[in-house]
Amino acid sequence: MPHENIIWRPPGDKSISQRATFLTSLAEGTSRISGLLWSEDTINNLKSLKQSGVQIKTVGEDVLISGVGKYGYHTGNKSVNLGNSATSSRIMLALLCGQRGCFRVDGNQVLRRRPMSWIVESLRDMGAKIEWEGETGYLPVDVTGALLKGRHHRIRVSSAQAVSALLFAALLADNPTRIYRKTKARDHTERLFNYFGFNLVDTGDYLELTPPNKILALDLSVPGDVSSAAFLVGLVAMQRNPGLSLTVKDVNLNPTRTGFLDVIRRMGADIDVLEQGTVCGEPIGKVVIRSGRKLKGVTIAGDAFVQSMIDEIPIIAAVAATAEGETVILDAHELADKDTDRAFTTIELLRQFGISARSIDGGLIIPPGPFSSPGTVTVPNDHRIAMVAMIIASCCAQETIIHNWDVVRVSFPGFLDEFNRIGHAVADSELKLWGPHSLEEVGV
Ligand code: S3P
Repeated sequence: MPHENIIWRPPGDKSISQRATFLTSLAEGTSRISGLLWSEDTINNLKSLKQSGVQIKTVGEDVLISGVGKYGYHTGNKSVNLGNSATSSRIMLALLCGQRGCFRVDGNQVLRRRPMSWIVESLRDMGAKIEWEGETGYLPVDVTGALLKGRHHRIRVSSAQAVSALLFAALLADNPTRIYRKTKARDHTERLFNYFGFNLVDTGDYLELTPPNKILALDLSVPGDVSSAAFLVGLVAMQRNPGLSLTVKDVNLNPTRTGFLDVIRRMGADIDVLEQGTVCGEPIGKVVIRSGRKLKGVTIAGDAFVQSMIDEIPIIAAVAATAEGETVILDAHELADKDTDRAFTTIELLRQFGISARSIDGGLIIPPGPFSSPGTVTVPNDHRIAMVAMIIASCCAQETIIHNWDVVRVSFPGFLDEFNRIGHAVADSELKLWGPHSLEEVGV
């Protein structure tokens, strides 16, 4: 096949985009954010801020956020709906607890199934007034703003969202807040707070934030999302024919997020990762992945290591099915609290494509392929499972019809275009591809 070298900048990082908009909304003055992710999750995030009185304007692809100060949110309709986004809902809930007024926080059917108890308990401990509107532990909730008190928290879940929501609440508290993490997971909030110059101490044992009197506006750049990049990097790594190379540029290389890159290197993929600098406290650089290597199964374990690839487990599982030998993934209990129970939905998907994947306590075992198309698949409401389904389908000899694939809009609305750009290069290696033509043919 002809040599193909594709250069690509992934969409903005979802986690950083959400944190950047929340933080600048609390500032005094206008901040410009470039490189923001434009997807369903971030649009719901911006919508909720607008409903809270924050002025938002766009300039080309950039967004201008006119902050309202630490306690300046108000809500015209008293209700914010964060759609699908657990990160946004948990941070927004924390922020509304410290505002003046009454609010209601809700989400779509997927978000209404995500647990909220652990964050609500910690916020209540800070003096927050939160009532469950329906089932205990789940959205929607009613919030009456209160003066939050600085407290010591011991987090019992391995979740960056738990730490982040409390750090945001801590900005509004009367005294320092101390947080003992269960596991160090993605630390974007910590890095952003440091970039803003806040008094945040990380002893390794705990984090302690002394709330700033006020927050000053600051322009921000969001690096490319390494989790979105992982799907296409994975797709190239899965190709046995040499000649295809993908360069991912301007991508976030924060070590709390790059476990996937380490894993596929250990599997034997031909990959180079080059750090090129920092943007707003986040390391960025490029990743070059080349097709043509035989891969081998690996064992993945350790709380912090697994957290560094927690959103990439479905694509790791797909890559693993093209390797020689089994891959074992342990310490991944947190997968149960994703858009779906992702250990379960990943196994289900692989099984539909002929791989006898199975679950073990808090993990998965993935034996080698080959993939075979089931003909038709309906993916659950989980963007990451949908993208993996498309990737696996492209590796099958037969065509696959995928229903509900457009749930990719949650994090990566342009996925189909990028997938096809690489897909066509893969087609040169004589793999039969599923593509938009197939969708049109079946009227999806
Ligand atoms: C996120 C943290 C992770 C991740 C999610 C985004 C964040 O969830 O799965 O996609 O932005 O903080 P947990 O914090 O629940 O692990």
